[in-house]
Amino acid sequence: MNELDSIVAAAHEAFARAGTPADLENAKAQFTGKSGRITELMKGMGALSVEDKKTRGAAINAAKQAIEAALGARRQALADAELEAQLQAEALDVSLPGRLREPGGLHPVSLTLERIEQIFASMGFDVADGPEVESDWHSFTSLNNPPNHPARSMQDTFYVDLQGDDGIPYNLRPHTSPMQVRYAHQHIKKHAGKATMPEIRVIAPGRTYRVDSDATHSPMFHQCEGLWLGENVSFKDLKVVFTDFCRTFFESDDLALRFRPSFFPFTEPSAEIDIQFQSGPLAGRWLEVAGSGQVHPTVVRNMGLDPERYIGFAFGMGPDRLTMLRYGVNDLRLFFEGDVRFLKQFR
Ligand code: PHE
Repeated sequence: MNELDSIVAAAHEAFARAGTPADLENAKAQFTGKSGRITELMKGMGALSVEDKKTRGAAINAAKQAIEAALGARRQALADAELEAQLQAEALDVSLPGRLREPGGLHPVSLTLERIEQIFASMGFDVADGPEVESDWHSFTSLNNPPNHPARSMQDTFYVDLQGDDGIPYNLRPHTSPMQVRYAHQHIKKHAGKATMPEIRVIAPGRTYRVDSDATHSPMFHQCEGLWLGENVSFKDLKVVFTDFCRTFFESDDLALRFRPSFFPFTEPSAEIDIQFQSGPLAGRWLEVAGSGQVHPTVVRNMGLDPERYIGFAFGMGPDRLTMLRYGVNDLRLFFEGDVRFLKQFR
């Protein structure tokens, strides 16, 4: 290797060793700086003949260009590395989960209650709310179910340590039916003194309690009472209203209803309402969704109205059951465990 080639090779090595731009500029000085090796060779050319100057000069220039090309490449490599390091240091991992709070949502049973209220409101029903701790008279006696009546065992409930004026303890209402009488009293008071009283058309959703607990019964559950009372309301209206409700609620006309004779002390005649889906996973099975019937004359009388003049129907349905059917939930207890993994599916 001649002298020039070994200088170029030394420059390559020195540049490769330089780890920073400052190191690189120092290394460059050793070759093409004021007293660098190439510069020194140029200076030594003065003594040469014109012919030698030509060949020697061309060779030194070629070596200088090779060194400058190596220098440029190394400068670029160091700048790229520096930029890369900076990008790495400043990198944002956009795949990390954020610190956002997840939005909450309504409980599935609340969603059902909202739907029920909307649908009945569209049919002209008022929405009423009443106490969960009830008097014996409202829960039972006013509903034609006096003390010692065997039908009381249909709705065994919880009693609280508080006696009513009649000496009978208050109870956690076993159904929303006490709202029939409570609402009728309010309605009559509101329209007292007017020539005619408007029809009573109301639903009363809320919590109810019974001594019951398994996959389809919870000691606390929901009911929604319905009452339509007037001078010209019939069982036919019950069928129309409830059929309309079910079809709207389940968003399907592919639904059959059956009114199966039954017994409740506060209605006569009484019927359980069953529905049957014609398609989907539950197709063909009859499912009970409500109790219903024509309001018993004794109940109308206890409302303070004349049963010869006022007639109508009532029903009581289970929003928990409706929620299970609508969303395909097979265990009622899931609604009351507060497990977010279950609840967030309804968000
Ligand atoms: N209260 C009844 C029950 O709890 C349901 C019902 C309401 C039946 C109104 C008839 C009329 O099962």
